[in-house]
Amino acid sequence: MFRIAVMVSGNGSNLQALIDNVHANDKVDAQIVMVICSKEGARAIERAEAAGIRTEVVTLESRGGDRERRDGEVVRLLRLVAPDLVVMAGWMSIVTPVLLDAYPDRVINLHPSLLPAFPGMDSIAQALDWGAKVTGVTVHIAEEAVDGGPPILQEPVPILPGDTLEVLEERVHGVEHRLLVRAVTLYAQGKVNRDPARLRRMIVDEGGS
Ligand code: GAR
Repeated sequence: MFRIAVMVSGNGSNLQALIDNVHANDKVDAQIVMVICSKEGARAIERAEAAGIRTEVVTLESRGGDRERRDGEVVRLLRLVAPDLVVMAGWMSIVTPVLLDAYPDRVINLHPSLLPAFPGMDSIAQALDWGAKVTGVTVHIAEEAVDGGPPILQEPVPILPGDTLEVLEERVHGVEHRLLVRAVTLYAQGKVNRDPARLRRMIVDEGGS
């Protein structure tokens, strides 16, 4: 079985998409074995518990604001469940090499823009405010640079005349839910690998699945 850990901070709608689509996916034998949340009381915790998934809360504040100490605790917890893949699905805190070096090329991040455009916070609002005609969704390898690692999957999302933030958010989230499930499924099938000739590129074999 392919073992997935999911890191979350808030609503957890992408976690829900994984719960609904990866557990019940006949193409892969995969399970979410742990959810780690960076915020007490987040809706994502309820979603994980309702699905019967072991859930842990690790806040930065509880580690004195020290990211490396916080990540040390995250790694300690992850080691208890030996994940094959760690998915940051709305994890809104910068991670350090303490986590990234423990799982090389095995920590992935979801971001609501076509990176490298609009990294950081409030990316959907940034794209709308900038007047962009297109934004999108990126699933990428997590690196120390925020939203900086090589993409695994990207998909554009149009910004239409008259879009409000709420309307655009809904369109982007719909794509996120589908793209994240696809990326995790491809990982579980062993179809995501670094290009040995160009290390900045990920080779994704989408044929025949
Ligand atoms: C998602 O839009 C995700 O892409 C974004 O947080 C949201 C979480 O939603 N992540 C980032 O902006 C990371 N830089 P959710 O809690 O409903 O899944």
